[in-house]
Amino acid sequence: MTQREPNPDRARAGGGNDAAAPGHSQERIAVRPAKAGELPAIRRLIGLYPDELVQDELPRISSFFVAESEGSIIGCCALQVYSRRLAEVRSLAIHPDFRGKGLAAQLVDACRRRGMERRVRQLFAVTSEPGFFEGCGFTVHTGWKTAVFANLDGDP
Ligand SMILES: CC(C)(COP(=O)(O)OP(=O)(O)OC[C@H]1O[C@@H](n2cnc3c(N)ncnc32)[C@H](O)[C@@H]1OP(=O)(O)O)[C@@H](O)C(=O)NCCC(=O)NCCS
Repeated sequence: MTQREPNPDRARAGGGNDAAAPGHSQERIAVRPAKAGELPAIRRLIGLYPDELVQDELPRISSFFVAESEGSIIGCCALQVYSRRLAEVRSLAIHPDFRGKGLAAQLVDACRRRGMERRVRQLFAVTSEPGFFEGCGFTVHTGWKTAVFANLDGDP
């Protein structure tokens, strides 16, 4: 999937913002760049979704944004920049207790802003949740370039 302009209603905030969590009226959730030492917590979060996310080689910590609630990492997403032309949004996970609050959309928007700051021309994601990414401004790409895959593990 590659990205066009996002739906502003979904991409409500960028890196470093606080957001009140609906349903947790007193709770403040910060979406911000990850800090050194937070990779184990990120790895634990991603480990909740072994079917959706592969965690063998995570992006470096400086590539990550996180959502934090009361000192716990409850969301993460990384922007892996390959070149001025292309960057990948990956390792997106929200703790089950915090889904449906717009946090994933905020994390993807933080990645989008970082990509724009670095003058990257295009974002993509390889995902089992294309509907979510379409809401964030990505389109399933059927244009002049198509992603192609080759399985190396014998699976069809
Ligand atoms: C997919 C996932 C990241 C969504 O996180 P979330 O914080 O619940 O998503 P948000 O609340 O930010 O959703 C933003 C919008 O996307 C929609 N949305 C969320 N998940 C969706 C899905 N699977 N398909 C279509 N739309 C979806 C929401 O309804 C919301 O729409 P709205 O703005 O119109 O209300 C989360 O469910 C998750 O961690 N899943 C397991 C890991 C995974 O699949 N990661 C992605 C693979 S790359």
